Parts: sequence; C-alpha cells; structure tokens
Amino acid sequence: MKYVIGVDLGTSSVKVLLVDQTGSVVGEVSRSYPLIQEKSGYSEQDPNQWVEKTIEALAELVANFPGNPSDIEGISFSGQMHGLVILDEQLQLLRNAILWNDTRTTEQCEQIYHIVGKEKLLKITKNVALEGFTLPKILWVKQYEPNIFEKIHVFMLPKDYLRFRITGKIHMDYSDAAGTLLLDIAKKEWSGELCEALGIDPTICPPLVESSDLIGTLTKEFADKTGLSEATKVFAGGADNACGAIGAGILSSDKTLCSIGTSGVVLSYEERKDRDFKGKVHYFNHAKENAYYTMGVTLAAGYSLSWFKEVFANDENFNDFVSGIEEVPVGSNGLLFTPYIVGERTPHPDANIRGSFIGVDSKHTRAHFIRAVIEGITFSLNESIEIFRGAGKKIDTIISIGGGAKNDTWLQIQADIFNAKIIKLASDQGPGMGAAMLAAYGCGWFDSLDQCADRFLDVVKVYEPIPDNVKRYRELFKIYQEVYEHTFVICKSLMKYRK
Ligand code: XUL
Repeated sequence: MKYVIGVDLGTSSVKVLLVDQTGSVVGEVSRSYPLIQEKSGYSEQDPNQWVEKTIEALAELVANFPGNPSDIEGISFSGQMHGLVILDEQLQLLRNAILWNDTRTTEQCEQIYHIVGKEKLLKITKNVALEGFTLPKILWVKQYEPNIFEKIHVFMLPKDYLRFRITGKIHMDYSDAAGTLLLDIAKKEWSGELCEALGIDPTICPPLVESSDLIGTLTKEFADKTGLSEATKVFAGGADNACGAIGAGILSSDKTLCSIGTSGVVLSYEERKDRDFKGKVHYFNHAKENAYYTMGVTLAAGYSLSWFKEVFANDENFNDFVSGIEEVPVGSNGLLFTPYIVGERTPHPDANIRGSFIGVDSKHTRAHFIRAVIEGITFSLNESIEIFRGAGKKIDTIISIGGGAKNDTWLQIQADIFNAKIIKLASDQGPGMGAAMLAAYGCGWFDSLDQCADRFLDVVKVYEPIPDNVKRYRELFKIYQEVYEHTFVICKSLMKYRK
C-alpha cells in the first residue's frame, strides 16, 4: 500500500493527515500555535512556528506509522490564505507574517481604489480591495516600515513559506495567488499594471505553478528531522478554501460547499472566468486546473464560538459546552447574535463593525447564548447563499465540512437556515484531505481529481430542511439582517475605546 500526506496549515494549528490509496485517513496529528495580536485589528504569526510545529507533527505521524517511510510517496499542502510573508535577499524572514484576519489596512485599500480605480481592479483581479488580502498588507509595510519594504526580495503566502523550508524552492500556486489581489485571474499571470501603478517591484512576485505540480523532493535536513524519505515528492498545494473544495468533491458546476473553520465560507464552483458578481463575493482560481470558484466569507465563524467558549467556559470540553443547544427552540427565544467580533467581509466589507447580542432576556440561559452564536454564524453564511441565489445560482444541496459539520444540531440548523439539503461526508477533513488528494493525483494514482474524489469521498448522512423551522428562520433572518444597519454607526463611535 502507498500513502500520501496532506498538510493543512491553518490559523490556529497545523494538521497532518496520512491517507492511503483507498482514501482512508490512517494517521492524523495536529499541533497548535498562537496568534500574535498586539492591538485590536492586528493578527500576526511567526512563520518559524509553522515550520517547527509541522516538523513535530510529521515526526509523530511517521513515528506511529508501522510501514516503511518510503511508501509515503507524496506530500502536499493546504494553507490559510492571504497572509504576507516577506524575505530578504538571503531568503531570511524580514518580519512576522501579517495574516488574513488582520484588518489594519483600511487606509491602503482606499489608496488602491484611489490610484487604480475600483473598475480596473475588478477587471484584473475580479475582487474588491479588502483589508485581509495580501496587496494592502504589502502597501502597509511600504508606508509604515519603509526600511523593511526596501529589503523585500520575495513575498510568499503561508504554505509557500512552509514548502520553501521543506524543499528550498520558491513558488506560489494560482489558487493562493488569486487571493493576493495582484494576480490577473483570467490570464493567470501577475499583473504588471497593478505592480507599476502601486510602486511594487514585480520581481518580488514568486513563479506561479498549478496546485498539483511537482515542486521537488525533501531537503536532507527536513527528511532527517521528520523521518520521511528524502525522495518524497512535494506538490505545490493550494489555498485552504480551494483545497477544502477539492476535499469535499466541489469539482463541477452546481456544487456548493459550506466550510466552518476559524473563518466560515460558502463556496460555489465556477467553470467560467468571466462571470460578474461585481465584487460582492470573492472570485478565485480553483486548485483544479482552469476552474474557478466564487466565495463569501464570514471572518469569525468557528472563531465566534471558540471565543465565546474561551471567555465563558474555558475549562469545559467542547461536547459538554454545546450539549443542551438541541433543547433550545429555533431562534433561541428571541436572542440574536451577529458574529462581527473581528469585523466582517460578506456582505458587509467593514473592518470596524463589531458583534452584538440583541434581545437578551432574563429568561435566557447559557444554552440560549450558545445556540444564538451558532445561529448567528449560520445566518451570516446565509447572506452569501442569498447573493449566489440572487445571481441565478441554484443551491439546493450543500456539502458541509469543518467544525460546523461535527455537531448534529448545527448541521440541522444549516439545513433549516440555508433551506437546502446538507450533506455530511465520512471525512470532514476538507482542506487536509484536499491537499492529500492533490498529492495522490500528482503521484499519478488517478487520471483526474474527479476520479480521485469518486474513490476517496463518501456521504454518511443527509440533513433535510424541516419546513416549520425554515419558515421561522426566514422571518428571523430578515431581523438579523437589520442588526448591521442599526449597529454600524454605534460600532464606529465605539472604535476609539478599543485597544
Ligand atoms: C478567505 C479567508 C479565510 C482564510 C482562512 O478569503 O481569508 O477563509 O483562508 O484560512
């Protein structure tokens, strides 16, 4: 039997999965690392931590593997998107990575519109300027850390840096490059026009590759530290959402994914590179060759729930924490939560908005609050589904992965709020599985990713929408949507009190 490894470099942890030729996950290890949050709105990580923790996780995975490490043929990656990693000429890190959920760059987004113009930006990159994307972060460094900016030899995204440390080679794949706001999405090339307009030397953009391209093999040092064979083939990998889509079989039109991790996304496959969503949702290259996807993002999805647990029930295990929410009626007895605790992206690209609980009543218990948080996250994701439906997409079945797919009640809430059939897969690993599938396809085990998905992915349960709940949630969703309109001015006034 042969094996591949999928590495999922996430925001809170790295997970490594060992997958055999039938698609079974036969080993899994994860290691967490902290966020560095100096101020409200700032979010950084030390890229060395990604490398160290991945080495630790792989070493444990290999140590527990009863077979011969040379049977592990390939490895590939899924990475948290958009994070800026910059290296000098000696290929040394110049500063901490500035992550996707860092919102310090509102001023730079405005500069981009002012210099380039929104129309042109949309034409080239298919996306609007959002704080989380990489380009505004490069411009922030240019403005506030000019000494560092001058020394930039190359920039990368998180999983590209990890892969660089594993192979010594520098590349970026299209699916991740799409989230930089410097890629011409349709032409699949760096936009010289944007670089020139914004004073960025185009040579700092790394060579582009397909996600399933073979990049090389392991350095001796990395092989020695992990116990993997030096001959293990390394494939480029992709953006976590693109890999999540592959790992959930979102490989043809009319397939839609709901993935709830730290952030939450609703993602829909696109064959065409020329549809116009006017920037309301993200439009990125898929990790499957010459395909695309559109996506709406809730910045704090799983993070809203983990924040709530950390603040109010830190010592409890997760299952105890959420037990009891199935007893709370639909709508949490009039308690609504908006998950804007780090700002929002879809449908409100607003770095200053913050979350709220509305309708708090003396009868509410902790379980009502927990259910309201879960409902609020799901309402926020429903905003993206409504945008897709409004643009004429048919969405009647959604594959759900990530933390949100681990709890039965939450899966039923998704079916009822989205008014769609929710599919749970045997593996809810999503991004890590997608990375493993890129390696399996790259190794030549299958003729296509679609064939790999047919072999690797199984449906375990389907959740049907319950008509009474759908009706109740439709009414509540309208009220939920009003909360933003009524709170954004208040949140803006509160900004100066945030540290
Ligand atoms: C997508 C986004 C997040 C990160 C999470 O645009 O910013 O989903 O990819 O890792």
